[in-house]
Amino acid sequence: MLVSLTKFGVAGALAAGLWFGVPAAAEANVVDGGVAPAAPAQGGECGKPGQPPCPLQDWMRKNVASALASNDAAALSVALEKAAKLTPDPAWASWSSAANAGAAAAKKGDIAGARGACKTCHETWRATYREQFRMRPVPR
Ligand code: HEC
Repeated sequence: MLVSLTKFGVAGALAAGLWFGVPAAAEANVVDGGVAPAAPAQGGECGKPGQPPCPLQDWMRKNVASALASNDAAALSVALEKAAKLTPDPAWASWSSAANAGAAAAKKGDIAGARGACKTCHETWRATYREQFRMRPVPR
C-alpha cells in the first residue's frame, strides 16, 4: 500500500485517506463528488492524460496486461485469480466466473483462451465499473 501511495504522491495519499474514512457503500458518492471535500483525486480525477491512473486501471496494467505481454501463463493465472476476487459487487456473478475461467485456461498454458476472459469482463463490466467504482482502491 505504501508503495502505491508514494506513486500517487500527496494527492493520492489524501484520496486514500478519504477512502479509508468512507464506508464501501458510499464510495460511489465519492466518485460523484457527493462525500469528499476538495481533494485532487476526487470526482473521478484519474485515468485521463496528466492524471494518475485509476486504482484498478493501474492494477490491471501492472498485473494482468504485463503478464499477458510477457507471455507468462503462470503469472497471468495468478493475476486473473486475484482479479476474480476484486468484484466490487457480489451480484456481478459473471465477473468472477469470467476471471476464474481465464485463470484456469492460463494455468493450462492456454493464453489465447485466457484472453477470452479479458474480453468478456471488459465488455460486460468495464463501463459500469468506471461509472460506479472507479476510485475504489484495489484491496491488497
Ligand atoms: C473480471 C473482470 C476483468 C477481467 C477478467 C479482466 N479485466 Fe482488465 N479491466 C477490468 C475493469 C473493470 C477495468 C477498468 C478499470 C478502470 O478503468 O478503472 C479494466 C482495465 C484494464 C486495463 C486498463 C486499460 C486502460 O484504461 O489503461 C488493462 C490494460 C486491462 N484491463 C487488461 C486486461 C487483460 C489483458 C485481461 C485478460 C488477460 C483483463 N484485463 C481481464 C476488468 C477485468
